Amino acid sequence: MSSESSQTWSLTSHQITCSLSWIRGGLVILILVFMYFQLNLLLSFSKSSENLDTNDSDEAILSMIPAELHKFLSLKPTNSTRTNSNGSDDKISNISTLNISYIKERIAQYNLQQRVLNGNSFQSLENDSIVIVVQIHDRINYLRYLIVSLAQAPGISHTLLVFSHDYYDEQMNSLVQSIDFCKVIQIFYPYSIQAHPEEFPGEDPEDCPRDMKKEHAVQKKCNNALSPDVHGHYREAKFTQTKHHWWWKANRVFKQLEVTRNHSGLILMLEEDHYVGRDFIHMLRLMEKTSKVSCRHCNVFSLGTYMKTYNYYANSKKVEISPWIGGKHNMGMAFNRSTWMQIVDCASFFCGYDDYNWDWSLQQVSEKCLKQKLHVMVAVAPRVFHIGECGFHHRKNNCRSNSVISKVQQVLKLSRRYFYPDRLILTYSTVPKKTKPSKGNGGWGDKRDHKLCMGMTVG
Ligand SMILES: *[C@@H]1O[C@H](CO)[C@@H](O)[C@H](O)[C@H]1NC(C)=O
Ligand SMILES: *[C@@H]1O[C@H](CO)[C@@H](O)[C@H](O)[C@H]1NC(C)=O
Ligand SMILES: *[C@@H]1O[C@H](CO)[C@@H](O)[C@H](O)[C@H]1NC(C)=O
Ligand SMILES: *[C@@H]1O[C@H](CO)[C@@H](O)[C@H](O)[C@H]1NC(C)=O
Ligand SMILES: *[C@@H]1O[C@H](CO)[C@@H](O)[C@H](O)[C@H]1NC(C)=O
Ligand SMILES: *[C@@H]1O[C@H](CO)[C@@H](O)[C@H](O)[C@H]1NC(C)=O
Ligand SMILES: *[C@@H]1O[C@H](CO)[C@@H](O)[C@H](O)[C@H]1NC(C)=O
Ligand SMILES: *[C@@H]1O[C@H](CO)[C@@H](O)[C@H](O)[C@H]1NC(C)=O
Repeated sequence: MSSESSQTWSLTSHQITCSLSWIRGGLVILILVFMYFQLNLLLSFSKSSENLDTNDSDEAILSMIPAELHKFLSLKPTNSTRTNSNGSDDKISNISTLNISYIKERIAQYNLQQRVLNGNSFQSLENDSIVIVVQIHDRINYLRYLIVSLAQAPGISHTLLVFSHDYYDEQMNSLVQSIDFCKVIQIFYPYSIQAHPEEFPGEDPEDCPRDMKKEHAVQKKCNNALSPDVHGHYREAKFTQTKHHWWWKANRVFKQLEVTRNHSGLILMLEEDHYVGRDFIHMLRLMEKTSKVSCRHCNVFSLGTYMKTYNYYANSKKVEISPWIGGKHNMGMAFNRSTWMQIVDCASFFCGYDDYNWDWSLQQVSEKCLKQKLHVMVAVAPRVFHIGECGFHHRKNNCRSNSVISKVQQVLKLSRRYFYPDRLILTYSTVPKKTKPSKGNGGWGDKRDHKLCMGMTVG
């Protein structure tokens, strides 16, 4: 625009009117093009929303999944499958025929043996293979769908799937062990609440109650009287487990697990209630390749972000470069050993930061401890979806996994032809200068948690 105006001032008046009408004509065309584009967007939106809510019956969901993968969804008709419609069908059963010492023994065995399933059927890891680490608890129904989505992704057979459990359950084990489309290994977080129900890291009967006042707690001499969190509350075991588990599994995979500890390629982290789009491996590779040329300071990739509407028509090629934000870039994130080495140097910051969320803690690590902050390249049109609406952050009365799953299926189906971009378009997010860091969410004031976390660190 500026070069155009600097040229026009020497023209004659006739030429000026002429070029003005040209500009006007151009504007009209521009507006028309713009309107056409908008219309198209609108159409693609309404097209998707019109189809989105229609049918979330089990039959309809199954009909969109290849028949050979139905075996991962078949709910065994045992007593352990709950049938009420209040959302609890997403969890495994409560039948607790296993005693604690047995569970501890099995966990130790698995962690010692490190058996790679299907190791003979698929080629061993290359230095640039993708290792997918799935952190899982007890929501087996979501896990079934994650597995079904992974099974449909081309390239999956070259990956290694690591399942990191913090709940021991035979039904989940058989599900994981029935995977036949890639190499699989199971690891078990050894300090789980399940395996320590009445002692730390579980809930010790001598622990101070969450809401007890400090003076009272000190008088009573309960275990952790001297270390309430930043908001004055005492530890709640169930809220601490996820951060511990996250830290443990990353240390385990990068530093200890025989099959991965020398791996130099990307480690992708998923959770049990995620669902992947079929080009997620392609995207990850493309992001890695692109970053080597166009974003050398990008050290984290993220396959999705939380959005309400999905517009693949406009966004399937777009990636955004941004400082890493915990609440935004924690889904389907991937990084390699060199990034991990920097993070683990900040172990005492991570383990001592009074916030029970691993992602908030990691963001603080990035902002306050890392020499080279975390910079993410994130897919604007997600390739990883969060289907676990019933998690403990989003407690809803009537949360049915079906409606979210069928929505995701529909979105992916409608956008199929926009997948597999051949190149990426980089955009840069304008992050507000300083999102004044709050003092953290707390829940992590107990010295025993800091110590446990540090003890799991493999430097
Ligand atoms: C949903 O889909 C199933 C199978 O495709 C069909 O049998 C059923 O009638 C549909 N239900 C509704 C409400 O459309
Ligand atoms: C299921 O429950 C029934 C009775 O409620 C019992 O007879 C049966 O043995 C149980 N089956 C299993 C596999 O636990
Ligand atoms: C579902 O939850 C409601 C309220 O929490 C309860 O009244 C109802 O009995 C539950 N239904 C089943 C099938 O468990
Ligand atoms: C689950 O098990 C616990 C103890 O093992 C018991 O107190 C609780 O009532 C059980 N819940 C259900 C829904 O069976
Ligand atoms: C715990 O379970 C194992 C295996 O089921 C059994 O051999 C053992 O005797 C049980 N121990 C106790 C204390 O119940
Ligand atoms: C990966 O392996 C290939 C061939 O085996 C080799 O050329 C390449 O340098 C290796 N890359 C790294 C990062 O080790
Ligand atoms: C990993 O590297 C270490 C030392 O660099 C070596 O001793 C070990 O054998 C390697 N492990 C595998 C599985 O390649
Ligand atoms: C690991 O990631 C960094 C960026 O964080 C990159 O510079 C480096 O090349 C990557 N290493 C390998 C082996 O790909």
